[in-house]
Amino acid sequence: MMEDKGFSARGLTLGFAFFMLLQHFVRGDLSYSIPEEMKRQAVIGNIAMDLGLELSKLSSRKVRIDSEGTRKRYCDINLSTGDLIVSERIDRDSLCGKRASCVLKVDLVLENPLELQRITLNIQDVNDNPPLFKNNLIEMEISESAEKGNRFSIEEAHDADIGQNSVQRYDLQKNENFILAVDSNKVELVLENKLDRERQNEINLLLTALDGGTPQRSGTLAIHVTVLDANDNAPVFSQAVYKVSVPENSPLDTVVVTVSATDADEGVNGEVTYDFGHVSEEDAKIFSIDPKTGQITVIGETDFEEVTSFEMRVTAKDGLGLTSYAKVIIEVTDVNDNAPVIYLKSMTNPIPENVSPGTEVGIINVQDRDSESNRQVRCSIQQNIPFKLVPSIKSYYSLVTTGQLDRELVPNYNITITATDEGSPSLSSSKIVQFSVADVNDNPPVFEEQSYSAYVTENNKPGSTLCSVTARDPDWRQNGTVIYSLLPGEVNGAPVSSYLSVNGDTGVIHAVRSFDYEQFRSFKVQVMARDNGSPPLSSNVTISVFITDVNDNSPQILYPAPEGSSFMTELVPKAAHGGSLVSKVIAVDADSGQNAWLSYHIVKSTDPGLFTIGVHSGEIRTQRDISESDSMKQNLIVAVKDNGQPSLSATCSMYLLISDNLAEVPELKDMSYDENSSKLTSYLIVALVSVSTFFLIFIIIILGLRFCRRRKPRMFFDGAVTIPSAYLPPNYAEVDGTGTLRSTYNYDAYLTTGSRTSDFKFVTSYNDNTLPANQTIRKSPTDFASEYGDCDHSVEVGGNKLLIHFYT
Ligand SMILES: *[C@@H]1O[C@H](CO)[C@@H](O)[C@H](O)[C@H]1NC(C)=O
Ligand SMILES: *[C@@H]1O[C@H](CO)[C@@H](O)[C@H](O)[C@H]1NC(C)=O
Ligand SMILES: *[C@@H]1O[C@H](CO)[C@@H](O)[C@H](O)[C@H]1NC(C)=O
Repeated sequence: MMEDKGFSARGLTLGFAFFMLLQHFVRGDLSYSIPEEMKRQAVIGNIAMDLGLELSKLSSRKVRIDSEGTRKRYCDINLSTGDLIVSERIDRDSLCGKRASCVLKVDLVLENPLELQRITLNIQDVNDNPPLFKNNLIEMEISESAEKGNRFSIEEAHDADIGQNSVQRYDLQKNENFILAVDSNKVELVLENKLDRERQNEINLLLTALDGGTPQRSGTLAIHVTVLDANDNAPVFSQAVYKVSVPENSPLDTVVVTVSATDADEGVNGEVTYDFGHVSEEDAKIFSIDPKTGQITVIGETDFEEVTSFEMRVTAKDGLGLTSYAKVIIEVTDVNDNAPVIYLKSMTNPIPENVSPGTEVGIINVQDRDSESNRQVRCSIQQNIPFKLVPSIKSYYSLVTTGQLDRELVPNYNITITATDEGSPSLSSSKIVQFSVADVNDNPPVFEEQSYSAYVTENNKPGSTLCSVTARDPDWRQNGTVIYSLLPGEVNGAPVSSYLSVNGDTGVIHAVRSFDYEQFRSFKVQVMARDNGSPPLSSNVTISVFITDVNDNSPQILYPAPEGSSFMTELVPKAAHGGSLVSKVIAVDADSGQNAWLSYHIVKSTDPGLFTIGVHSGEIRTQRDISESDSMKQNLIVAVKDNGQPSLSATCSMYLLISDNLAEVPELKDMSYDENSSKLTSYLIVALVSVSTFFLIFIIIILGLRFCRRRKPRMFFDGAVTIPSAYLPPNYAEVDGTGTLRSTYNYDAYLTTGSRTSDFKFVTSYNDNTLPANQTIRKSPTDFASEYGDCDHSVEVGGNKLLIHFYT
């Protein structure tokens, strides 16, 4: 009890001196409490005194300390003093370890009498050991990814002492990242702030373990923390948005942009690979990104007209998969790669040729897929055509006519529309539009000739072809189909259709009947050419039909009258000299020209040497003086021939009486004609002479009146000489039953066509002896020369010239 009290009451520092004073007797046992590690010879207690033994008896009783077995003797007895002393180092920590009480028992042996005393030594702990760590340096590797609160165990420090003298607490040198967590049986570093390798890649910590002894002892531990890299840094792009532009149609492998991202991590964690984020399949065919370099290149076709801009995400990923994103905007810039396209929106085809200028015939739309000035399009058509392009709304153009169209000149137009954009270089395209011009019946048929003349010889066969007319009409199809027809009209009072017919398709003109030159020599008809248009157009042409003469009429002898009907005798004065005109044969020929060119011949005569006849005049003259020996009665047979081929002729007999006296005429009774006719002849002559005389006087009076006004040695007849109808050939009497011919025509029929005077010789004699009966000049001459000597006078009658020979 005492020692307990004393040990606890006093500190260790008060030492073991105090313990020495303590003696215990526990049923005779001695007990001492001593601190450990007392010096050798240090006195634990006085045995002699404690046991009540006399010092002198100590030796005699052979007092000794006996240890059990081989145990060390920790204490001994000083026999001279009776003190129990320390003989051996007493280390509680090794003797008892962590046991709370440490008791060492020794036996005290006394002899004479043998006595055994047990001594108990209570060994008290002394703070003689510092806390110790196993190693004074430990290496730790902690990933920077370690989370806050993560714990890292540290081996505890060891202190051989017990109780207060053992480890009481730990101190961690102040640092940014760790704090210390200590509980009964473990020591841990707790991560208070996250590590960042990138900021500090190693940390040195100092951990101190402290015990509770006095003086306090401590042990330290150096902790070297290596911060391991964690992939805590995502790659970082240099720009959040990369905005670039690339011209369309860039060649393959053109570098568009290079994206770059940096990663603060090291090693694999800092190795950045690039890729696209989500891109559409189409975009993926156009661009690719190099995973290593971040170069974005063109691998497909960039077409501004399809997509004008691309927006893609690019990712940068480090080795362990931290990713960051950036945006790449690729604008495609336009290149003038699309030629304008021309669309024909509507067209009027064919265009009627009569459209007025300015008519819209087509609408054209021009498109260019490019943009800006690359899509500004100019549109034009070729020059020299009657069309133009008029810009309309937006990219529309009207194609309008600028002039009159004429299908007959230009039946179709190929209009080349050219569209050019304003890009550089500019592109252009063209389109050919074909327009045809539709016909309008705007051309009348036109005859090839202004007028036609047809010559037909008389006595033609009905149905024979006279001529053909042709008219051209340049219009199309039925508008240009020409139909010929006769225009209604009359020729000599009969419808033209009874003379001619025209083939409606060919224009060939046929005679319907046989013509007779002696009836009429020409006529005019009108033929119309009409096209088949609606309404039809037509034109007219005049056809002059000229009937040419055929020698189909024999000469007609007017005087002397044909034998049998009248019998005329010419008186020839006996005193007639050679060359005297005695008579004249008058003949006409209904034909004309050569066919009417008459010649006279004496084919038979009583006295061939006495009379001659003018070949063309028909004048019978004496060749020589009449002599007494000449027969009184002379007979001549005169042949009149025309000049036709073959020539036709007529003959007549001329009776001549050489006598001075009409009274001798009765002697002619033996001339072979009867009295009746002789009488008639006499009457006729008397009548003729009287009429002629009267007529001549009348003319002279008229001319005398006129002569005062004009003196012209010419004589004009604007009328015609009438030939007595009795002398007319029978065929002149009736013309188509329309009655008698007009007298002018009647006269005209004896004249040649044309104005050639030589064509016609109408020879007559105004000899009072030979003037034929009742031959009159129907119209009085307007001018007349008073003396009508042996001169020629041309007389214009109805456009024909008549040459009349006057004889005195
Ligand atoms: C228009 O073109 C067509 C076909 O190419 C050709 O037959 C015709 O002769 C051309 N016409 C003109 C007026 O050039
Ligand atoms: C003929 O002309 C008329 C107008 O005058 C026109 O309507 C018609 O189509 C034309 N015929 C042909 C075959 O061209
Ligand atoms: C042709 O003659 C007919 C009949 O006289 C007439 O109606 C028509 O107008 C004429 N045509 C021309 C073009 O002169």
